[in-house]
Amino acid sequence: MGLADVLATVPDGSPQASLAHQVDYARLPSHVAVIMDGNGRWAAQRRLPRVEGHRAGIDSVRDVVEVSARLGIDVLTLYAFSVENWKRPPAEVSVLMGLLKRYLRLELDTLMENDIRFRVIGSEDGLSPDVRFELAAAERRTGANGGMRFNIALNYGGRAEIVAAARRAIAAGIDPQALDERQFGELLYTGGQPDPDLLIRTSGEMRVSNFLLWQIAYAEIWVTDTLWPDFRSRHFLEAVVAYQKRERRYGGIKEEAVGAGR
Ligand code: IPE
Ligand code: IPE
Ligand code: MG
Repeated sequence: MGLADVLATVPDGSPQASLAHQVDYARLPSHVAVIMDGNGRWAAQRRLPRVEGHRAGIDSVRDVVEVSARLGIDVLTLYAFSVENWKRPPAEVSVLMGLLKRYLRLELDTLMENDIRFRVIGSEDGLSPDVRFELAAAERRTGANGGMRFNIALNYGGRAEIVAAARRAIAAGIDPQALDERQFGELLYTGGQPDPDLLIRTSGEMRVSNFLLWQIAYAEIWVTDTLWPDFRSRHFLEAVVAYQKRERRYGGIKEEAVGAGR
């Protein structure tokens, strides 16, 4: 993983190649989370049904999974379906679930070849048995892989996740006085994984839509107007380069100001 692996898949002299050279591979974000948004608008711009936007978005998923694995990102989390998305017409929901199943079936070999460990985060309640079967099969087959961890957030809600973690803490009889942020974080779906350093949202919306509410406490947020079906490795690399120019403070002050007492 690193520059050579990214360059192997991009044309010489392309914008992706130039961006790949700008990345500092020693300071990559450990965890990148993506709110994949704008599929409906992409389809509307082309006078197509909304579901065509979801279909087209699969190519973006493939591209982003590949470039993040090649870069050397530890964890990639893609927001595919929120607990609120059940409000959509049943036909749209059914296409989304169908696309997910197909994606997993078609991509499993590629995930294996690239040593990627797949996990689904979210609630199983309400998912049909065939979707659960496909998810479990992909988790099982990739479970021993040691490369990038790839989470799909499906039937996911940040508040629901926090409530579920609180229930787990109570059920496990954890002493309330002893429960701290670290231990509580371990009870979330993402237990054992670093918090996202970088949160990407496509299609220009400036909101977090109930995504990883606990985990994004100090994530750097990068929003692009690009609609998800148009999002490719080039945009992902742009986000990483922009992230590396940010100054993360975690509530502190500029490092050089510490010694100066200012
Ligand atoms: C993102 O695209 C996909 C899901 C939320 C499942 P949208 O379907 O939300 O597209 P817009 O926001 O309507 O353009
Ligand atoms: C967020 O997108 C959920 C996913 C990307 C799965 P939405 O399109 O559902 O979010 P809102 O409704 O614009 O906040
Ligand atoms: Mg949307």
